[in-house]
Amino acid sequence: MKKVIYNQFGDESILELVEQTVPEINKDQLLIRVKAVSINPLDWKVYGGEMKLMSGSKFPKSVGIDFSGIVEQAGSAATRFKTGDAVIGLLDVFKGGALADYIVVKETDIAAKPTNISFEQAAALPVTGLSALQIVDQLAAISPGQDVLINGATGGVGVFAVQIAKKRGATVTAVVSTKGVAEAAKWGADTVIDYTKQPISSLPNQYDAVIDLSTKLSFADAKRLLKPKAFFVSTLPSPLTLVYSFVNNLFSGKKMKILILKPTVEGFRKLVELAENGLQIVLDKTYSISNVRQGYQESRRGKSIGKSVIVLN
Ligand SMILES: NC(=O)c1ccc[n+]([C@@H]2O[C@H](COP(=O)([O-])OP(=O)(O)OC[C@H]3O[C@@H](n4cnc5c(N)ncnc54)[C@H](OP(=O)(O)O)[C@@H]3O)[C@@H](O)[C@H]2O)c1
Repeated sequence: MKKVIYNQFGDESILELVEQTVPEINKDQLLIRVKAVSINPLDWKVYGGEMKLMSGSKFPKSVGIDFSGIVEQAGSAATRFKTGDAVIGLLDVFKGGALADYIVVKETDIAAKPTNISFEQAAALPVTGLSALQIVDQLAAISPGQDVLINGATGGVGVFAVQIAKKRGATVTAVVSTKGVAEAAKWGADTVIDYTKQPISSLPNQYDAVIDLSTKLSFADAKRLLKPKAFFVSTLPSPLTLVYSFVNNLFSGKKMKILILKPTVEGFRKLVELAENGLQIVLDKTYSISNVRQGYQESRRGKSIGKSVIVLN
C-alpha cells in the first residue's frame, strides 16, 4: 500500500510516497481503507518542525490527521463498528499517519460517517469541525444574543465556527479577505469585514467573544475589541501563552482561552448531527496522493476558502 512519510523536518520537498505492507490489527483495533484525508495547517507546522516539543524528533514520521474511509477489518473486541461501515476519524494531531491506503485505529478515534455527504466532504469535518465546536461551546461559551467576532472566518475552522455560532443564537461579525466576503454572508454572518480594506484595529464595536483563527491577532490588540467581561480565543498553544493566559484569567474580566483540540465521542456525535442537519462543508480543492506536495504548498500559501482534501483510490 502507499503511504506518505518524511525523514527530516522541512518544507514539502521532504514528503515521500513509499510502498509499505498493510498493517495488522490487535483485537481492539480496526483496519480502515482510507478514502480521503483533509489538509490542515497543523500538518505543515508539524513536518516543518514548528512543534518538535509535542511531535518529538524521531523519524520516519507520517502525515495526515483526519480522514474518511471504510472499515476493512474489525478486531474481535471491537463492538461499535463492523466491516463495511463508512466512518470519519482523527489520529493523534502530532503523530498523524492518515495519508496511507490503510490505517489502524481504535474505536474512539472514529465515528459513523454522516450519510448525506461524500467521503471528500466527510474527511473535511473532524479537525476543523471539532475545533469549531470546542471553541464556540466551551472556550468562548457562546450563548444567545451575544456578539462574536471571528477573525479568519473563511478558513477550515472559520466556515464551521460562523455556522455554529449562528446556531447558538449569536450575532456574528466575520473578518475575511476580499474573495470571502460573499461566502461568509452565505454561511450566515451578520456583518462581514474585508480586512484588506478595513483593518480590524479600526473597528468601533466591542464583542462578547473574539475568536482569532488567523494567528495574526494578539491578545494585547484584541483587548480593545472585548467587552469588560469577554473571551479572546487563540488557536496557538505554547508554554508561554498557556502560563500567561492562566495568570491573566485570575485577575482580568477579559479572559484569554487557548485551543488545544480534545476530540471526544460526544464532540463527534454533535458534529455528525450538525452535518446531517445541513452544516455547510466547503471544499476548495482535491488532490491525488501523488500530488501531495502541491496540496500542502497551496495550503501554506493560504487564500483558499474552506478545506482541501487528498483523495485516495
Ligand atoms: N491548537 C489546536 O488544537 C488547533 C486545532 C485546529 C486548528 N488549529 C489552528 O487554527 C488555525 C485556523 O485553522 P484553519 O484550519 O481554519 O486554518 P486556515 O484554513 O489556514 O484558515 C486561516 C484563515 O485566516 C485568514 N487570515 C490570514 N491572514 C489574516 C489576517 N491578517 N486577518 C484576518 N484573517 C486572516 C485566512 O484567510 P485568507 O487566506 O483569505 O487571508 C484563512 O481564512 C490554524 O493556525 C491551525 O493550525 C489549532
